[in-house]
Amino acid sequence: MSEKVAIVTGSNKGIGLAIVKGLCKRFEGVVYLTSRDETRGRQAVEELEKDGLKPLYHQLDVADKSSVVKFGDYVKKKYGGIDILINNAGVAPEMPLKNNYEDSKSVIDINYGGLLTVEEVLFPLLRNNARVVNVSSDCGHLSNVRNEEWIKKFSNKNFTRSDINDFVDWYLESVKKGTFKNSDLADNGSVASYRVSKVAVSALTIIQQKELESRGIIVNSMHPGLVSTDMTMGIGFFSIDDAAETPIYLALDSPSTIKGAYVWYDKTVLDWYDYKADYYFKKNSVYFQLSKNIFKNFISIRHIGVGILSIALIIAFTKIL
Ligand SMILES: NC(=O)c1ccc[n+]([C@@H]2O[C@H](COP(=O)([O-])OP(=O)(O)OC[C@H]3O[C@@H](n4cnc5c(N)ncnc54)[C@H](OP(=O)(O)O)[C@@H]3O)[C@@H](O)[C@H]2O)c1
Repeated sequence: MSEKVAIVTGSNKGIGLAIVKGLCKRFEGVVYLTSRDETRGRQAVEELEKDGLKPLYHQLDVADKSSVVKFGDYVKKKYGGIDILINNAGVAPEMPLKNNYEDSKSVIDINYGGLLTVEEVLFPLLRNNARVVNVSSDCGHLSNVRNEEWIKKFSNKNFTRSDINDFVDWYLESVKKGTFKNSDLADNGSVASYRVSKVAVSALTIIQQKELESRGIIVNSMHPGLVSTDMTMGIGFFSIDDAAETPIYLALDSPSTIKGAYVWYDKTVLDWYDYKADYYFKKNSVYFQLSKNIFKNFISIRHIGVGILSIALIIAFTKIL
């Protein structure tokens, strides 16, 4: 029987690294740590090796088709197929409130475009009964969308791939023309490009499930919680190991009835179509966590430096968000 293969994109650090760590401990097969930067990726492998884990490594930049094709060719030749694919690679906007076109395009090209490229090149390698986890966000739930036309389109359960692409293009065009309205998205349009990219990821997941259903393949998208990583400048309710639990559950343990679903960090399945729900990202949750950090750090005089750093961070966040 051929060796089983698990792949995690963007896994040189953060949640992806913790997913690799967890899979190395439990998955009966090879686990690929992949990264866009080879040096950072190989360093991450070395760190895991110090803990006795044995991930394999390959370069993979999801925003560079030639890199994805190279990796796909390698996997096909060496293993013939993929059993677990965790699409974790992602970026947040540099200026969350400014909606600059180049920044927005870059976020969408990586978070959504990268998934489309992976789908085109690597999905044909998925074995029957494989599992795919698309790491989305609370920004990916439909309740992030406030524009009535798009709510109507997506809450109709028959939306298509081209509807998702039109949604992404609509956003980018409106930013380019300067016609984007903050009221078209939740929380007064904060982190707009990220919300659009992740709504697209979760919507695409539903379509991918329908397309792969006949081969027993399961595809879900999930929100990992607000997690302390570089992406959040260390602010979060959860550690990367906490955050890796649900993607690992979806890759290895969840019942086959959970498919094409939108899954919360506590493993509950939410109704993605419930556009009136309260699952969307709120920037106040970041302020709340920052305040908690400051309180925690100030009660200990030894951590006064961290306290000062936290204040600097809260000022920076107030300016950015
Ligand atoms: N942290 C949170 O609170 C949170 C909440 C909701 C959702 N998420 C999602 O969780 C996932 C992981 O985020 P994180 O918090 O762990 O962030 P992170 O620490 O910044 O890690 C992101 C990873 O993605 C990689 N990456 C970026 N662009 C890539 C590309 N083009 N090709 C391949 N890899 C690429 C990064 O590589 P480099 O080191 O080269 O940059 C890094 O390894 C993302 O999809 C994010 O949107 C995070």
